[in-house]
Amino acid sequence: MAHGSTTAAGLLGDTATRDYSRKLKLFNAFAEPELREAIASLALRPGMNVLDAGCGTGEALGWLAAEVSPGAVVGIDMATAHVNAARSVAPQSSLVLQGDLLAPPLEPESFDLAWSVNVINHLRSPSAGVDALRTLLRPGGRIALGQSSLLPDMYFAWDSRLERLVNEAVRQYYRDRYRLDERDLADVRAIFGLLRKAGLKNVRARTFMIERVSPMRPADESYLVEAIFRDTWSGRLQPYLSQSDRQALMRLCDPAHADFALRRDDFHFLQTFTLAIGEV
Ligand SMILES: C[S@@+](CC[C@H](N)C(=O)[O-])C[C@H]1O[C@@H](n2cnc3c(N)ncnc32)[C@H](O)[C@@H]1O
Repeated sequence: MAHGSTTAAGLLGDTATRDYSRKLKLFNAFAEPELREAIASLALRPGMNVLDAGCGTGEALGWLAAEVSPGAVVGIDMATAHVNAARSVAPQSSLVLQGDLLAPPLEPESFDLAWSVNVINHLRSPSAGVDALRTLLRPGGRIALGQSSLLPDMYFAWDSRLERLVNEAVRQYYRDRYRLDERDLADVRAIFGLLRKAGLKNVRARTFMIERVSPMRPADESYLVEAIFRDTWSGRLQPYLSQSDRQALMRLCDPAHADFALRRDDFHFLQTFTLAIGEV
């Protein structure tokens, strides 16, 4: 593993002062149908206590509370801005703590489920994260790790060459920016083995497909245009694409351009969301 950073930040740069709450809100509004489907698949029951570890801006707190109320839903996150955002949307009955999930200020064996989405791949030691979560679970309690693919899957149904080049450019960008190696980018397929390796029982995985065609909901369009086309792809990919491919990509990503991807009849987007579950 090529984790050369010398800072105390997480693998993907998380600290108490880092703030990407806008991106988290966009993602949760975008993927809400599939995230709620994933929560529904857990067959939670009223009265269960649930921890959302790395709760980010807290959208899932209300979705979880709807399943387990009057049971408790607790969120924990290290980032001040994310915690503040989560507190502003959390149901009154939920508690949102600021802290490190690796050393959580919580009672051991007090939860029936630890739900943790897009977090374990941010830790320098994912297995330490699983160990920390399992100590919080009652006997028979479950860990549910969710992971959406960090890198784009399929965007440009009409241009597989550009799609392949963009995928590779994004991988290269992540490798360079965070000094990751190829294995660190295997996120969605790392979580199942992680739970198995931790010795959890009845480990299983299920993948939900986030599939969008045009026309799409405003929440879908906002996420793709702002979080992906503008913030992830625009300037960041410049060094990794030829000038002509970069220009073609910019035209596809520009809502003011005639080639804007989301206005195409054949726009067909696929991204996976994998849930791996194990019991203590
Ligand atoms: C990609 S975000 C996911 C947030 C949320 N679960 C969601 O699905 O929108 C990762 C979150 O994990 C938090 N995080 C990373 N390492 C953490 C740690 N060691 N303890 C607590 N929170 C952590 C970050 O601050 C960030 O809010």
